[in-house]
Amino acid sequence: MAAVASLVTLLSPVMAASSSSAIVADGSSFSLNGNDVSYRFHVDNSTGDLISDHFGASVSGDIPIEVTGNVNGWVNTIGRVRREFPDQGRGDFRQPAIRIRQSEGYAVSDLRYQSYTVKQGKPDLSGLPATFGTDDEVSTLIVHMYDNFSSVAADLSYSVFPKHNAIVRSANITNQGKGNLTIESLASMSVDFPYENLDMISLRGDWAREAHRERRKIEYGKQGFESATGYSSHLHNPFLAVMDPASTESNGEVWGFSLVYSGSFSVDVEKGSQGITRALVGLNPSQLSWSLGPGESLTSPECVAVYSENGVGGMSRSLHNLYRKNLIKSKFATADRPALLNSWEGLGATFNESTIYQLAKESAALGIKLFVLDDGWFGDKYPRTSDDAGLGDWIPNPERFPDGLSHAVNSITALKAANTSTNLRFGLWFEPEMVNPNSTLYHEHPEWALHAGSYPRTLTRNQLVLNVALPEVQDFIIDAVSNILNSSDISYVKWDNNRGIHETPSPSTDHEYMLGMYRVFDVLTTRFPDVLWEGCASGGGRFDPGVLQYFPQIWTSDDTDAVERITIQMGTSLAYPPSAMGAHLSAVPNQQTGRTLPVDFRGHVAMMGGSFGLELDPSDMPEDDKAALPALIELAEKVNPIILTGDMYRLSLPEESNWPAVLFISEDGNKAVLFYFQINPNINHAIPWIKMQGLDPKATYRVDGNSTYSGSVLMKIGLQFPIATDYGSKVVFLEKQ
Ligand SMILES: *[C@@H]1O[C@H](CO)[C@@H](O)[C@H](O)[C@H]1NC(C)=O
Ligand SMILES: *[C@@H]1O[C@H](CO)[C@@H](O)[C@H](O)[C@H]1NC(C)=O
Ligand SMILES: *[C@@H]1O[C@H](CO)[C@@H](O)[C@H](O)[C@H]1NC(C)=O
Ligand SMILES: *[C@@H]1O[C@H](CO)[C@@H](O)[C@H](O)[C@H]1NC(C)=O
Ligand SMILES: *[C@@H]1O[C@H](CO)[C@@H](O)[C@H](O)[C@H]1NC(C)=O
Ligand SMILES: *[C@@H]1O[C@H](CO)[C@@H](O)[C@H](O)[C@H]1NC(C)=O
Ligand SMILES: *[C@@H]1O[C@H](CO)[C@@H](O)[C@H](O)[C@H]1NC(C)=O
Ligand SMILES: *[C@@H]1O[C@H](CO)[C@@H](O)[C@H](O)[C@H]1NC(C)=O
Ligand SMILES: *[C@@H]1O[C@H](CO)[C@@H](O)[C@H](O)[C@H]1NC(C)=O
Repeated sequence: MAAVASLVTLLSPVMAASSSSAIVADGSSFSLNGNDVSYRFHVDNSTGDLISDHFGASVSGDIPIEVTGNVNGWVNTIGRVRREFPDQGRGDFRQPAIRIRQSEGYAVSDLRYQSYTVKQGKPDLSGLPATFGTDDEVSTLIVHMYDNFSSVAADLSYSVFPKHNAIVRSANITNQGKGNLTIESLASMSVDFPYENLDMISLRGDWAREAHRERRKIEYGKQGFESATGYSSHLHNPFLAVMDPASTESNGEVWGFSLVYSGSFSVDVEKGSQGITRALVGLNPSQLSWSLGPGESLTSPECVAVYSENGVGGMSRSLHNLYRKNLIKSKFATADRPALLNSWEGLGATFNESTIYQLAKESAALGIKLFVLDDGWFGDKYPRTSDDAGLGDWIPNPERFPDGLSHAVNSITALKAANTSTNLRFGLWFEPEMVNPNSTLYHEHPEWALHAGSYPRTLTRNQLVLNVALPEVQDFIIDAVSNILNSSDISYVKWDNNRGIHETPSPSTDHEYMLGMYRVFDVLTTRFPDVLWEGCASGGGRFDPGVLQYFPQIWTSDDTDAVERITIQMGTSLAYPPSAMGAHLSAVPNQQTGRTLPVDFRGHVAMMGGSFGLELDPSDMPEDDKAALPALIELAEKVNPIILTGDMYRLSLPEESNWPAVLFISEDGNKAVLFYFQINPNINHAIPWIKMQGLDPKATYRVDGNSTYSGSVLMKIGLQFPIATDYGSKVVFLEKQ
């Protein structure tokens, strides 16, 4: 029986890492070591299968070989062990990380260990976004596996960033045989957790309701989530946390998985019959079906996995640091972002050169540094005056700009931000992946829109999606955007994307589209490195690490109601650094919820995002609110460096408390800023104490320029903030003495 097969490995313990270097490998055991994390696996001597030993707290020395239960019943040994890269067939009935269909029709694979390579640094991922680092920051182990029967090679690439406690994995599958294969599923990361009780967290939502944190117990059987929209989507984010059921925001073991990809994905968590929990993160199998001819390869996107013993917050801070330093390529990653005003909620698509100049002038008078013209500026034969025309025709509307767009840009950039010698900068909105049937582009190239034969081309928001998989479409977009950026002094681009993908010629089009889109992003951001690029997809519909590689910031949600935004921004911060979030103060009553909130509350929530802005027409504001704006802009500029580079501590969560609070601590630990909110009034009731985190317990901190307290008092006892009304807020500065 199969039990005999595992006897050989049962007799000898897995060899231990003998040094503290980041990667220790000897061809039979492998150890990846971060500062506070170990990731270990070994080759089963008798079978050549890769067996997982540990992903968690830093350990050294031998690990006892896992004793499997009696092999009785239908499940073979291979279905009872923790596998590094589970293939299909051979008696493991759990969901595989890879499923390949051979030309003969078999969907069985037999990937066994062959050899390994270790490299300093981290190779690129050929056309896919990927974390990067110097030889000092990251090391890479490549494990070569091979299926003798199908001649398929699988290279598993593991990179370890010791400082961030991050392990990054991708898989590269090559067809070395003579037949054609189809890759039907390919997970970037597959982790088998030992038998224990676990919880998981995902981020779910919809348009204007992104990133709601969902925690649940992992039950026997499958539980998972996916995006099948063609993009990472508002519906579910490509992020998973797995944790000990006792872990909290600030304590306990938490594993975070974040897929560096912007297309359809799937996350599958399966607690198998034996109680082992398998987590798979990768491309969505329903949109893969990738054919691989002889000699061809498919590389999966990479998945980042971090481990923390400091709760969900510790996991988030590891991802934030890694993404700020080793994912976002833009020179603006941690540079101060100009306070901006976006015209959308103020003017919508109804404006002319003089009305936008007026809005820009008012913005400058308030201290705004960047004026952003949103939708509605383009289209000649099919002018973009409503959402049923113009997308695809990236030519300034000649009626709105009779003297050309550059005339308007020149007059706006000649304005000075109030009381400074800083010229106002100009930004522009695009939605380059889309086309309206009412456009010259569509009339000339109907074949460029995604479609499936003669099936109807279903419109969403009156628009179709261009097939960015086609090189001619990629070149069209690159030229159209370059032309506009070359024509005027434009220093910011908001790149929007407002519908999902439905009809495609083939399931594999979704991934081909992403590869094409990444080429477009790469060419444009390399060509225009001085432009501050902001991603957007009806708000946070494409808030993912793939986009962050190219764009340092993303519009977090089309819902600008500040109470809603606390939940959305805190949820988004589970995986993404606050530096990456666009957040704006908008008018009241709020356009999405109808709620009226105090201007300070709206401003304070917005300045917790790395890119603070206004989304309104100041001339429509009540005088008092308008008068408050300069001070709020100044405060946003003051806190911005701490938000961009500091550590974030979610002190209390909006879903659990009437007093959500967040502390940001500067990188050097010398300054901190606390944001504290009271949602409902607190009538005739004790006032809660809010406890800080992450301070030096022995140091002394000055609170808002007057009282001083020790870090231990601030963390163990906390501070109180009496607020009389509902929707109250405080911004409090701490300075280490
Ligand atoms: C695997 O087998 C080789 C040779 O039989 C032996 O030297 C080695 O110690 C074994 N390794 C493990 C991990 O059992
Ligand atoms: C994948 O493997 C093929 C074949 O060995 C190689 O040519 C290609 O460069 C690899 N891709 C990556 C991203 O490593
Ligand atoms: C695969 O084939 C090679 C060469 O024939 C052989 O050495 C190796 O043992 C085979 N591996 C497996 C798992 O069958
Ligand atoms: C593989 O697919 C290609 C393209 O569809 C086809 O030309 C070729 O004949 C196929 N090869 C085999 C061995 O089936
Ligand atoms: C621009 O629009 C405003 C407001 O609708 C209008 O008063 C003004 O005459 C327009 N200017 C031009 C040049 O069309
Ligand atoms: C600019 O300075 C003037 C005079 O000190 C002041 O009244 C005004 O509020 C300032 N504006 C801004 C936006 O700071
Ligand atoms: C094209 O524009 C016309 C006129 O605005 C509008 O009635 C029609 O619905 C639009 N067609 C589509 C497909 O959006
Ligand atoms: C725009 O300018 C860049 C460099 O400034 C140049 O590489 C590119 O070819 C220009 N593109 C177009 C379409 O004019
Ligand atoms: C602390 O300073 C702030 C402003 O600097 C002031 O508003 C507040 O009243 C002071 N609090 C105390 C207790 O002195």
